Formats: sequence, structure tokens, C-alpha cells
Amino acid sequence: MAVKVQMEGAIALVTIDREQQLNALNAETLLQLEKEFTALKDDRGIKVVVVTGAGKKAFVAGADIAEMKDMNEREAWEFSGLGQRVFNLLENMPKPVIAAINGYALGGGCELALACDLRFAGDWAKLGQPEIGLGIIPGFGGTRRLARLIGRGRAMEMILGGEHIDAQTALEWGLVQRVYSADELMPKTMEFARRLASYSLRALQAAKAAIAGTEDLGLHREQELFAQLFSGHDQREGMTAFLERRSPKFTE
Ligand code: COA
Repeated sequence: MAVKVQMEGAIALVTIDREQQLNALNAETLLQLEKEFTALKDDRGIKVVVVTGAGKKAFVAGADIAEMKDMNEREAWEFSGLGQRVFNLLENMPKPVIAAINGYALGGGCELALACDLRFAGDWAKLGQPEIGLGIIPGFGGTRRLARLIGRGRAMEMILGGEHIDAQTALEWGLVQRVYSADELMPKTMEFARRLASYSLRALQAAKAAIAGTEDLGLHREQELFAQLFSGHDQREGMTAFLERRSPKFTE
């Protein structure tokens, strides 16, 4: 199973575990996450959820490029819809969710972190939306959530520029709330989670709902635009080039 869930008192630690692929999200992993998040949502014994990646190198290095490479427009639309659904479920979880960003949080990995309520990062973490270099755009809610969190200008810079930013820059931009050393990241994250777990679930839920409001993310447009990019040349070229470890030749 690519998703592991460990309970520690009222805290659930969800680990995405595809270490060889730097925890990249394929459809199967997204479906497992959906199943686990649905169960945690309704579990009255759980007050806080922590999400992290297996190993020391990556939180999640994105959606699975090998799986996406040969998708057609319809399949890409469905894949984007699946990712949006799972991340919406996480965002709307009636209890706090903390991302412990233990390395690369790129593409879908950055979008996963964005769907959490709090982001604590290791000082070696790199965050980014590098999809543009593959000939696509973020398709799991990142276009809206990133702009909402760090402002339109910086979201444009990250999504159009495609560069990774380091944890310190992410902290300065408000993309993450705290930065810790490798030794501290999990202990400090769990300490904060335990603090939240000592509070009333009803009050935590109300606080989250009040802050989040009922904003409509309007993700349908992102899904459409994401999918349309799979009907041409550049998406396939971008992904093939990544897998062949060469620079892409974009023509569209
Ligand atoms: N999807 C599928 N496989 C991925 C992946 C992804 N998003 N990210 C990494 N992998 C795989 C690599 O293909 C490689 O597999 P291999 O060992 O079978 O060749 C393995 O994970 C290790 O990655 P590698 O690229 O060799 O590590 P690195 O240290 O040289 O680089 C990254 C690390 C994260 C910078 C690089 O893997 C990367 O840029 N990944 C893609 C990020 C991205 O574009 N994400 C958005 C996707 S929409």
C-alpha cells in the first residue's frame, strides 16, 4: 500500500510511501488517500491529521509523470478531477490538517501541502510548481490555492517560472508557517499536533470553518485547461524529455 496511517492518540499520521518514485502521486495512491481521508473525516477519535512523505528526500515530488505521459484529454480531465476531489476532501476535513514537508514538495506535492491547513517544512525542503517545464499546468487546485495563499504575483512567479524555492523563501512568502532542522521536523510537528489534540474538537472545527469561509475555488476551469494540454504535442514532449533526462523541445 502506498499510503500508511498510524494513530498516536487522537493524531493520525498519514505517510505517502512510494519512496523509489519520491512519493509521486499516481491514480492508485490518490484513491487510497481518498479512502483514508474519508475514514479520518468521520472518525470522532481523531482530532488532528498530519501528512508527510516516506524517506528523507521527498514529501511528494508531484503527480506521477510516467503515468500521465500517455494520457489523452479525457483521461487527463478525469485525473485532474480525481486529484481535485481528494485535495478538496482534505481541505474540507472537519479537523486541522498539518503537512510535514520533509523534502521536495513539487507540482501535485506542493498542491497537496496547499490543501492542508498548516505547512511545517524541513530546512532542506524545496517547493515549486514545475509543471510548466513539462508542458502542463497545476491541475489539483494549485492555481487557485497558491494565489489565495501567497498572492497572485508570487503565484504567477512560481507557476509561470517553474522554479523551486527553498524553505526559507517559502517561510518569507507565507507558503509555510515554520521551518525546522531534520532532527526537529517530526518531533516539533507532532508536538504542535498534540497541542491541537488537547483542545475541543468542536472548537477546532469551528475555528477552521470560520477562517476558511465558504469560498468557491472554481476549479472547473483549471481542470478544463489542464486536460486540454493533453491533446497536443508539448505535454508529451515535456514528459518524455523528463523521463529520458533531456531538455524538451517545445513547438506549440
Ligand atoms: N513522477 C514520476 N516519477 C518521478 C517523479 C514524478 N513526479 N519525480 C521523481 N520521479 C522518479 C524519477 O523518475 C526517478 O525514477 P528512476 O530512479 O526510476 O529513474 C526517481 O523518482 C528519483 O528521481 P530523480 O529525478 O532521479 O532524483 P533527483 O534527485 O535527480 O531529482 C527531483 C529530484 C525531485 C528534482 C526530480 O525528480 C524532479 O524534478 N521530479 C519531477 C518534479 C515535477 O516536475 N513534478 C511535477 C509533476 S506534474
